[in-house]
Amino acid sequence: MDKIIVNGGNRLGGEISVHGAKNSSLPILAATLLAEGECVIHNCPDLTDVRAACDILRYLGCKVKKEGSTLVVDSSIISKWDIPEGLMHEMRSSIVFLGPILSRMHKARLYTPGGCEIGLRPIDLHLSSLRMLGAHIRESHGELICRIDKGFRGSNITLSFPSVGATENIILACAVSEGVTNIFNAAREPEIADLADFLNKCGARIKTGTDGTVTVEGVSSLHGCEHRIIPDRITAATYMSAVATAGGEVLIKDIVPMHMKPVISVFEESGCRINMGRDSVKIRKTERLKPVRNVRTMPYPGFPTDAQAPVMAMTALADGTSVIVENIFESRFKHVPQLIRLGSAIKIEGRVALIDGVERLYGAKVCAPDLRGGSALVVAALGAEGRSEISGTNHIDRGYEKIEESLRKIGADIRRGV
Ligand code: EPZ
Repeated sequence: MDKIIVNGGNRLGGEISVHGAKNSSLPILAATLLAEGECVIHNCPDLTDVRAACDILRYLGCKVKKEGSTLVVDSSIISKWDIPEGLMHEMRSSIVFLGPILSRMHKARLYTPGGCEIGLRPIDLHLSSLRMLGAHIRESHGELICRIDKGFRGSNITLSFPSVGATENIILACAVSEGVTNIFNAAREPEIADLADFLNKCGARIKTGTDGTVTVEGVSSLHGCEHRIIPDRITAATYMSAVATAGGEVLIKDIVPMHMKPVISVFEESGCRINMGRDSVKIRKTERLKPVRNVRTMPYPGFPTDAQAPVMAMTALADGTSVIVENIFESRFKHVPQLIRLGSAIKIEGRVALIDGVERLYGAKVCAPDLRGGSALVVAALGAEGRSEISGTNHIDRGYEKIEESLRKIGADIRRGV
């Protein structure tokens, strides 16, 4: 198993670009099943989760071609309506394929994706919403056997929690349907708007409101389109955490400033100098960081849970005690024991993490517990004295495109080794 090897202590400088959003690419790839024709998707990140989504599309009968960061998907012929358990478990968010498969084939057989490192990850909101739209879903020993008589019929759905995946599954189910569907208390993450933008280019009629309401006027069919995936706001936040930890000044390019607003104030509170450009952010850190007192993860436009781990890593060296509250997932602190191995002083009280800033961190052998926890270890290692070895890179590669190459470009002493 390969490792990421970091010799900490280098200050960072220069420019770095952000790849396309993982959490936009996945539902949009699922959405190509609805378009009877060819979709050209630009700015797709080269990630294991994206490759897993392409494996599912190919299994179902789609033709998928990769041309650099462009994926060309031809879904004219879909021959299957099931996803084998192995493919389902390659990527947790494969549950968003349920809506489009059911919409296109009127039957589907999938497996419950199961929990993962950050929590139980239930899918009750997905299933109850699809049932309201007319689906018959039988759950048996982890298998989902689904059918729909004539096709999805519009309905009014109020989500008890603004679930990103459930919102995406509902949109994917009713884009091609009879009638109108209103989703209340829908997720407002930028990736939802990107999915709607993609589907509207295919001929759908979807409106996303800023008040958490999504209205879908069902249409009879969709055609192919050309689309560019939005930048990955979590990767951008991770790079910012790296600069805030290692020190220096870096221009982070190809971002959407609006999407970064929930995290910018935290970096400013920590004492980083931030200059927002039209599609970039310059971050500068020269002095020792100040602690951050009120990071609470919330649904968008609140502070994103996916940025919690890398931001915690940066607070490890702050001059004081930081407070981070994880409100979204019930076990998303698995990176804490690993950060402690690097010398940080962190206490967990339920969903609250208290990070007592230390003078220095020391290189160590650590293991990535999950995707964002792994990126937190890379961030901390950049600010540690000495050599760190980070195993579990399979987690990191799910969401970051060649993270070591990107960080090396801005001066980090980081490489992949065995
Ligand atoms: C998406 O996961 C993202 N994944 C996650 O990113 C992200 O952390 C999460 O949204 C929140 O922003 C993708 O987009 C592929 P949710 P998802 O449904 O859709 C509860 C990363 O690191 N819930 O909004 O699974 C659930 O338990 C990943 O890139 C139910 O109770 O998130 C959790 O507490 C990790 N029932 C909360 O909602 C349901 O049916 C948020 O889940 C569904 C969710």
